[in-house]
Amino acid sequence: MRITVIGTGYLGAVHAAGMAEIGHDVLGVDIDPAKIEALADGRPPFFEPGLSELLARTREKGNLTFTTSLRAAAEFGDLHFICVGTPQQRGSYAADLSHLNAVVDGLAPYLERPCLVVGKSTVPVGTAAAVGERLAALAPVGARAEVAWNPEFLREGTAVQDTLHPDRLVAGVVSAGAETLLREVYQPMLDEGCPFVATDLATAELVKVAANSFLATKISFINAMAEVCETAGADVVTLAQSIGYDARIGARFLSAGLGFGGGCLPKDIRAFTARAEELGVGRSLNFLREVDEINMRARHRAIAAAKDLVGGTFLGRNVTILGAAFKPHSDDIRDSPALNVAAAIKLQGAHVCVHDEEAIDNARAAYPALEYAREPLKACEGADVVLHLTEWPQYSALDPAELAKVTNVPRLLEARNTLDVRRWRDAGWTVRSLGRAA
Ligand code: UDX
Repeated sequence: MRITVIGTGYLGAVHAAGMAEIGHDVLGVDIDPAKIEALADGRPPFFEPGLSELLARTREKGNLTFTTSLRAAAEFGDLHFICVGTPQQRGSYAADLSHLNAVVDGLAPYLERPCLVVGKSTVPVGTAAAVGERLAALAPVGARAEVAWNPEFLREGTAVQDTLHPDRLVAGVVSAGAETLLREVYQPMLDEGCPFVATDLATAELVKVAANSFLATKISFINAMAEVCETAGADVVTLAQSIGYDARIGARFLSAGLGFGGGCLPKDIRAFTARAEELGVGRSLNFLREVDEINMRARHRAIAAAKDLVGGTFLGRNVTILGAAFKPHSDDIRDSPALNVAAAIKLQGAHVCVHDEEAIDNARAAYPALEYAREPLKACEGADVVLHLTEWPQYSALDPAELAKVTNVPRLLEARNTLDVRRWRDAGWTVRSLGRAA
């Protein structure tokens, strides 16, 4: 099938490569010529494990090409996937749909033959229907461009695996023909037994935001327990493990610590509350505001604990931050809790040095006032406190005794609960953990 993937960010680039991998002829489209040039060269414009290998394979097969032209996309595709970002609007919780609308407006006039326009971006419920109307108004008479919504559930860091072997496929459609076409697109996944849910447009849109809201709620739930544990002298890690054995609860997404960030969960729960208000059911989602608050509070708790460790003031202190990406195995710093904490501590007068395995360049561009080090040992030189904020596996393999030698005073704030803190204490470190007795 001839498929276009419009928007080649974290979602679109992997989706385009994935569609080519399963045998479709794919044209990737983006307005950013630098991104298109890099991808056409087989270089991912961001770090995502496995993506370079996938791009190299499609280059050999020759079934993935790139363009910046929506006109070329309209001429090429029988099916167009829209994968552009829907970030939070400035000064509001609502989603910014300007990129999505720009794609629809740019594509529609060139749609000369029947095709299916499939949204993958996360959108407020009702958007797909509006896109359908927009297409009908702008496409040439007789083009018969139909809309469908097929939300994407991939996680950064495991995006290739999630794309090629999804947990489920959800398709919001308005015709049986659209369902058939989408089943055909994903046939290799269906052959592997992947569930395929065909539904209406609104349900498909809501599945995505409901899933992200549930995940965010799970994380904030355990972080609320962490607050209680800290005060009661209890241990949230043991608590999470114990409740997680109950299959109805499940052990995943119960890691207490600094909370969630990234380009999806924070803005999705906010956009969901904004949309619910518009629909007159704001009260139904009031709890998501609390989820957001608990999440932001984790950052303040980390800052307060670190400040306490260094004697009540950051003024003139050397603070080392381990981790800048919003989560490990990614170079994405969008709404990164780690960088948010680093910047706040810097504002309170500390010298802040940040280490990350992949996100240093992105972090430096966004936060030029912070210092950066390419090696954890270098980052810890002269530190009055070290904050473990993004749980790269490399940090678990560090030798605390060796690290202690280069610090000024070996003090650790463990904000992700993945380090073996007993080893650190044995090596002479004073350790505070989020959600565990001091
Ligand atoms: C998320 C959804 O998981 C994915 O299905 C959707 O398509 C996009 O949004 P992503 O943003 O890539 O994916 O990251 P995810 O792995 O979900 O982690 C989100 C944040 O939650 C990270 O900051 C992570 O550190 C944090 N997190 C996750 C926790 O704090 N505790 C946990 O137990 C799990």
